[in-house]
Amino acid sequence: MILLQAVRIAKSFGARRVLNNVNLIIQEGERAGIVGVNGAGKSTLLKIITGALSPDAGEVIKAKDISVSYMAQDGGLESGQSIWHEMLSAFTHLIGLEQQLREMEKRMGDPTVMADGKQYRQLLRDYDSLSADFENKGGFEYEANIRGVLHGLNFRDMDYNTPVNILSGGQKTRLALARCLLGAPDILILDEPTNYLDMDNLTWLEQYLQSYRGAVLVVSHDRYFLDTLTKVIYDLDNGGITRYTGNYTGFIRQKKEMQEQQLKAYKKQQEEIARTEEFVRRNIAAKDTTRRAQSRLKTLEKMERVTRAGERTQGKRFFLCCPAKRAGSA
Ligand SMILES: Nc1ncnc2c1ncn2[C@@H]1O[C@H](COP(=O)(O)OP(=O)(O)OP(=O)(O)O)[C@@H](O)[C@H]1O
Ligand SMILES: [Mg+2]
Repeated sequence: MILLQAVRIAKSFGARRVLNNVNLIIQEGERAGIVGVNGAGKSTLLKIITGALSPDAGEVIKAKDISVSYMAQDGGLESGQSIWHEMLSAFTHLIGLEQQLREMEKRMGDPTVMADGKQYRQLLRDYDSLSADFENKGGFEYEANIRGVLHGLNFRDMDYNTPVNILSGGQKTRLALARCLLGAPDILILDEPTNYLDMDNLTWLEQYLQSYRGAVLVVSHDRYFLDTLTKVIYDLDNGGITRYTGNYTGFIRQKKEMQEQQLKAYKKQQEEIARTEEFVRRNIAAKDTTRRAQSRLKTLEKMERVTRAGERTQGKRFFLCCPAKRAGSA
């Protein structure tokens, strides 16, 4: 099932066309990566997908009732509240249920309610049903989940009562990531989540996302992270996007093969052009061959040219990639 679809998105800043006819889909449970050089438009595309920015053309279609969380690039959590309070905000629904349960428990101990057999039995039934709902929604685990995520993202030695606004930029970014993960949305959209993570945190995040129940769309320059996580790569280049099935290594291989095919086709066409030009040059002036030469000249003029790899051609693009080293940037 398709959860979200970006259709023919275009966006310019001033005279610069950053996105041109960009299409992207996110399927249920899919793990997709977006790659491209600095300034390619990755963050712009995510902002458009999440509604933080309007496109000049095109539309974003979202399936009904699906939840989306977005962590912006370097988007740190800003709050005067404590770390723990901010993480609890991912579970307001469960906390509400918990409060209802506590109130019911109080009423169960109320002698007037206990004396009314009918009312008391109804209360017990409601309590059972609410307890089951609470349990199914992870009510007995959410505090452990918070601790697990904070531990995984390097807050294990931190006092969780610390106000968020005194934390460093890197810590605030990691907290924003933690908050996004705890929200457990149907689509998790992360813009360079591995910045500010050490190797242990990174390994923890890879494992967390691998077993994540929802879909993940992630921008990253970390090829190892993408290799571990993604099954689809979207490559943004020159404003256009190409979808590759597979992880990052598979994407590099496929792109290389396409480049080689492109170069072969280019060379073949160049030879044909040279032969035709030579024929035209030798025959255009001669009375009995001029018509054939003119016809070849027309063919030459109309010919759709294949270009060398790295250049734009016939609506498709081929380019060289620079895979990043771990902890470095592409
Ligand atoms: N609000 C804006 N106003 C003007 N130009 C912008 C704006 N936002 C982005 N740009 C420009 O659009 C281009 C794409 O920016 P974007 O941040 O989407 O790139 P990116 O692929 O995310 O790059 P990076 O890998 O460095 O994060 C850049 O040239 C950037 O300067
Ligand atoms: Mg960016």
